[in-house]
Amino acid sequence: MRQDYAKIGIVVVTVLIICVLMFHLYGRTNNPSSADYEIKSGNLVFAPSDRSLPKACKSSAIPLQHEISRYAKKQRQLTESEKSAVSVCRKRDLKQEHKRSWDTFFTNKIEYIRWNNHTYLNGDSTVIEVGGNVGTFSDNLQRLFRPRRYIILEPMKRFFDMLVSKYRSMSNIVVLNFGLSSEDRIDWVKVDGGSTSRFLPNKIPKNLLAPLRQVNSTNFFLSMAVGFFEVDLLTMNCEGCEYDILDAILDSNLINYFRHVQISFHHLNGLGDTLDRWCQYQQLLSRTHRLIYQYPLFWESWTRKDLKQ
Ligand SMILES: *[C@@H]1O[C@H](CO)[C@@H](O)[C@H](O)[C@H]1NC(C)=O
Ligand SMILES: *[C@@H]1O[C@H](CO)[C@@H](O)[C@H](O)[C@H]1NC(C)=O
Repeated sequence: MRQDYAKIGIVVVTVLIICVLMFHLYGRTNNPSSADYEIKSGNLVFAPSDRSLPKACKSSAIPLQHEISRYAKKQRQLTESEKSAVSVCRKRDLKQEHKRSWDTFFTNKIEYIRWNNHTYLNGDSTVIEVGGNVGTFSDNLQRLFRPRRYIILEPMKRFFDMLVSKYRSMSNIVVLNFGLSSEDRIDWVKVDGGSTSRFLPNKIPKNLLAPLRQVNSTNFFLSMAVGFFEVDLLTMNCEGCEYDILDAILDSNLINYFRHVQISFHHLNGLGDTLDRWCQYQQLLSRTHRLIYQYPLFWESWTRKDLKQ
């Protein structure tokens, strides 16, 4: 709680400092000769001022989050040894390994690792879940750890409504009706049971399609002030959007502010060479994080290297 106030404080103070500075500069450049105060018998007396607030302090001109954030672009070029690891990795058999991972994951309750493994979570934690669906994952996380802030992104209206009514009485859960992507966009998609994706083929009339609203991942995380605080767990099961999100956080220093990252990889047409992309993420993620569990090309989880668990 106190930490939260500190973060909000930092943002507010930054905005105020910028406003005060702009006010100061504005005063100087526009009114260089007029004094705001005079000295009367040794005391400083401020003259009444009818000057209105400068533009910079009106809400439309208040700095955007990313202008005062700790966001920084990052060089993503692979080193020679990372490149050779990728070329070895690329020889793996995507179809066969993915199938093996899938079969293993869904037998003997191994899939429960998705929530059971995150024992570091507690009543102070912040979790962002991309792809809430019907709430299986969130139900389990609530039952086990009750994180303080639990943000669920669910772009499909049907599931969103379901989640909102399910969690109506739980003030630690926020459900948002959009997904993440590389850019702000809306796609029209077929609602297909559990999996909805802009990467799944849509050959049905538009009146049977539903809008899939997506937001630029970088902007979303910046607007959440990631960087001023750390996200304990980012978990993604979003039918292909994991690639855009990983690109966004690995292209910048945002990756440093996610303590744990859990990913479900999908291999749909339209996602390009997913084996190559997965192989590269292994190298990029292992710069800052270490692998905790992995069912290759399917589910895996990473923990930042400085953390014990
Ligand atoms: C998480 O999973 C890894 C890999 O299976 C295992 O070694 C570790 O003990 C698990 N952690 C917890 C807290 O269950
Ligand atoms: C997403 O937002 C970031 C940060 O504002 C921006 O740099 C980037 O160009 C945006 N991406 C797209 C594809 O619009």
